[in-house]
Amino acid sequence: MTTQFKMDAPQRPLLDRTEQGVIHRPLDRPEGPLKVSGRAHYAAERQLPGQVEGVLVRATIARGRLAGMNAEEVRAMPGVLGVFSDERFLRNPAQGGAGEAPVQGVREIFYHGQPIALVVAETLEQARHAAANLRPSYEEAEAQVDPATASDVDRPDKRRLDQGDLDRAMAEARASVDVTYTTPPHHSAAMELHASVASWEGERLTLHGSYQMLKYNKAELADSLGIPEENVRVLSPFVGGGFGSKLGISPEAVAAAIAARDLGRPVRVVMTRQQVFSMVTHRTSTRQRIRLAADEEGRLTGIGHEDRVYNLPDEVFSEPTTQSTHFLYAGANRRLGQEVARVNRACTGSVRAPGEAVGMLALEGAMDELARVLHMDPIDLRRRNIPDRHPEQDIPYSARRLADCMDQGARAFGWSPGSRREGEWLVGQGMAAAARINMVAPSEARVTLRGDGTALVETDMTDIGTGTYAILGQIAGEMLGLPVASVDVRLGDTDLPPAAGSGGSHGASSAGSSVFLACQGLRATLAERLGCEAEDLTLKDGVATGGNFRADLVDLLSGGDLSEEGKFEPGETADDASQAGYGAFFAEVAVNRITGETRVLRMLGTFAAGRILNEKTARSQCQGGMIWGIGAALTEELSFDPRDGHAVNDDLAEYHLPVNADCPPIEVHFLDERDEMSCPIQTKGVGELGISGAGAAVLNAIFDATGIRVRDYPATLDKVLAGLPD
Ligand code: MOS
Repeated sequence: MTTQFKMDAPQRPLLDRTEQGVIHRPLDRPEGPLKVSGRAHYAAERQLPGQVEGVLVRATIARGRLAGMNAEEVRAMPGVLGVFSDERFLRNPAQGGAGEAPVQGVREIFYHGQPIALVVAETLEQARHAAANLRPSYEEAEAQVDPATASDVDRPDKRRLDQGDLDRAMAEARASVDVTYTTPPHHSAAMELHASVASWEGERLTLHGSYQMLKYNKAELADSLGIPEENVRVLSPFVGGGFGSKLGISPEAVAAAIAARDLGRPVRVVMTRQQVFSMVTHRTSTRQRIRLAADEEGRLTGIGHEDRVYNLPDEVFSEPTTQSTHFLYAGANRRLGQEVARVNRACTGSVRAPGEAVGMLALEGAMDELARVLHMDPIDLRRRNIPDRHPEQDIPYSARRLADCMDQGARAFGWSPGSRREGEWLVGQGMAAAARINMVAPSEARVTLRGDGTALVETDMTDIGTGTYAILGQIAGEMLGLPVASVDVRLGDTDLPPAAGSGGSHGASSAGSSVFLACQGLRATLAERLGCEAEDLTLKDGVATGGNFRADLVDLLSGGDLSEEGKFEPGETADDASQAGYGAFFAEVAVNRITGETRVLRMLGTFAAGRILNEKTARSQCQGGMIWGIGAALTEELSFDPRDGHAVNDDLAEYHLPVNADCPPIEVHFLDERDEMSCPIQTKGVGELGISGAGAAVLNAIFDATGIRVRDYPATLDKVLAGLPD
């Protein structure tokens, strides 16, 4: 049977009345032992009988046409089984969802790094050697690789808002700032390389891949290959990080499938680290002009946020830079807008917290600047501008504890800005607000109570390192009155009920709600068998009680399995209220007066994101976000060669993600909250909340320490040095 539910009205929290007591607890991930002992097999580790190896070949020009290549010569090399150069490699948009990509195929070249061929051989060494000897020839055309000077620029309507008169508000403001911030391109840089192993059984394709959103990835793959969806099975039980780069299928999957079909043997294609940097989606650079107008008490009368981003010609995705600016602060006069420069660089797409991750670097920096102009504490300025209702749409907010996060965070951190000197170091503090929109998506799951009193949760949901296995087991355990050790969770297989997937921080809420609903159905059946009302049923440690009855779960099941599907759908509450997770970041930094080096001494984040399902996995998500914040603030920058648009620092040695030595103790606190507008389990997304604003706290602290305002992220030594006295 199926328990179906559409989120059209606020939901009361059943999970606060259950008695197993496993929700919220900081439980270990159940798949942890498999991972640390090497028994969790990732896509690239698949070894099927007769499997052969494919290596992708990239274009080395920014724009033009593929004129030819020495494929015959390469085919004759030792071990080589085939050279594939197929128009279908790039049929689908890089950003998920089946449909045609504007930039397609291998004949026309739109960026340096575009995949143009796959060489398959018996061994990886043979394939790599042969691929290195494949020499394409091109007819080159003129390319535009610089977003600042690109001639082709779009201004998407969906990003435009003009409310009131911002120019007038600025002219009449008692205090104002008009500043431009820039952020560089970022790469998701997931630890696990993009990898696919494709095999066919007759008409049916099985792809072991590394993806975030399997039901969409299955549809994309079927669409690319021109075969029915039911002939495709995608398996991604373990994913070593995605951060957006695995939302949509990438060319290695399609290429592996095409080659495997042709050769009649399983084909493995693993991108090199350099290919990942040039072939999968990355985050655009941004140039953001922020205008803030305020009265003498620091009440905002106007907000302007206009940005320039880039993408390939006609790609529909553009970084939603102003996403949180729409709802975070008051201000009657508002102007938001975007320019999308069309350039010949690899496709841009979602990278962790698309929008807020970079938009709030600028907005929260500008708010700090306004606080300085007004001689106000930055927390007071923000608190004063928390709107009663959404400033652009006439709707209320759902649960929103922004002020509490700032106040309690400040207390826990020991908020006391003001520069002090320690030897050659200048020490200061900075803060920023955190905000990330909350989303949910359709999701399905099946939960089976087995005759022996254990349970099985099944869905094609993924765990990309976030803790999905843990939280889905906890939800089922809580609802069915079982310890988590009695709940098995199977994920990452498109033969299971289709889930929301891991994206937009909606996974836990959406997939979690589907598991909750399936369990609700099971509880109704159990109540009936026990002879009580569903509301009176209590399940704990394998025992059911209700009314005047009491029975062991196994007796109620009488040896048989009981299965239920849960089907969750977003509904009207998504439009009835502005939903977001909130928080506050605090950072203390030391800036070296001689070298300009910045060290983050400590960092703290306080968050309110609805019910927290697992205090340990949620904490890890927020810590990870804050580490990304340190990276955005100080080190991360993907560089493109201005001549041909190739990604220059295309490995983890040159693309500077923060490592342990860069990261101070990071404290994370969660405030107790339920969001009844979000979903039946009252959760909101946490995956991306921890990054949304984090880097701004670091740069605001640099200003507090030194009086140097860096508006060009990241604040590398040269930019800080320029402001230090000789
Ligand atoms: Mo996320 S950037 O939606 O994987």
